[in-house]
Amino acid sequence: MLALSTKVLYMLQKKPFLSAIPVLTIAMAMTSVAYGSTLAKTVSAASPTAVTASATSVTAATASVTPSGVPTVVQSTCMACHGLQGVAADGGMFPNLAAQWKPYILRELDHFKAHTRADPQSSIMWGMVAPLTAAQMQQVAEYFSSQKPAAGHVYDPKLVAEGKKLYFGGLPKEHMPACMACHGTTLAGLPPYFPMLAGQKRTYVINQLTYFKSGQRVATHKDIMQYIATRLNQKQITALAAYIRSR
Ligand code: HEC
Ligand code: HEC
Repeated sequence: MLALSTKVLYMLQKKPFLSAIPVLTIAMAMTSVAYGSTLAKTVSAASPTAVTASATSVTAATASVTPSGVPTVVQSTCMACHGLQGVAADGGMFPNLAAQWKPYILRELDHFKAHTRADPQSSIMWGMVAPLTAAQMQQVAEYFSSQKPAAGHVYDPKLVAEGKKLYFGGLPKEHMPACMACHGTTLAGLPPYFPMLAGQKRTYVINQLTYFKSGQRVATHKDIMQYIATRLNQKQITALAAYIRSR
């Protein structure tokens, strides 16, 4: 797995304008391997987690739903920061989860649970996922991924235009491919593991790009987003966040 991800980075450096397809194909192959092993870990870890959860909280241990069909844990916990339907309040650091790809959500929950997603904001989520069972993680991922996506909002048309240019054009001189290659022309991402970006909160996007750049967010695809983010300055990051929020 490590060898493959290094190969992706190498290819991006060697052939900066390599069409998105081979990069995607390799990256996808890389993820299925990684995901398989994460799943295996989750399954083997499932029973001790369930025992702890039932000892600490009755609501958290069951994958129950409210009369309106919302998972109980969403209403009792996740909603406070991510919104009942997965659209977080504006102006905060909490991400939208609505319409995000289910496998991506599940993988991030796994990474929070294992503490392998360890950027400066992640410890908030470590506490949130600790009592969840594998069944509850499936349930919340299914719930959030099937919600209506957040509506776009233009805060600063000039910044949005700058961000759009970068999103679709990349930085040829820096050998940085366009975001579009992996996150798509409609910013919908690509299942399973290329996250949707459309409408995502500005502060969250700025934080994540900054964490990728500093190496503080390390995940399965660290080589890809680290390669990208280290080529961006703060002004470009702000512009990209404005464009992403506008969609
Ligand atoms: C107290 C606030 C808070 C609560 C409650 C909370 N979260 Fe989060 N969540 C965050 C923050 C902050 C982040 C960003 C973490 C980071 O930067 O690593 C986040 C990130 C996430 C992500 C990653 C999103 C992405 O695009 O990568 C997922 C998935 C998630 N939360 C799911 C949940 C679920 C499911 C629950 C309920 C069990 C929940 N959260 C409850 C604050 C919260
Ligand atoms: C070669 C493919 C590729 C390109 C090009 C790319 N990304 Fe990504 N991006 C990914 C992958 C894969 C992830 C998931 C990272 C992980 O494993 O944690 C990601 C994650 C992200 C995230 C975090 C999303 C979340 O919900 O936490 C943001 C923000 C992001 N990318 C923005 C960008 C921007 C802006 C650009 C262009 C400057 C870009 N990406 C270019 C593949 C790519």
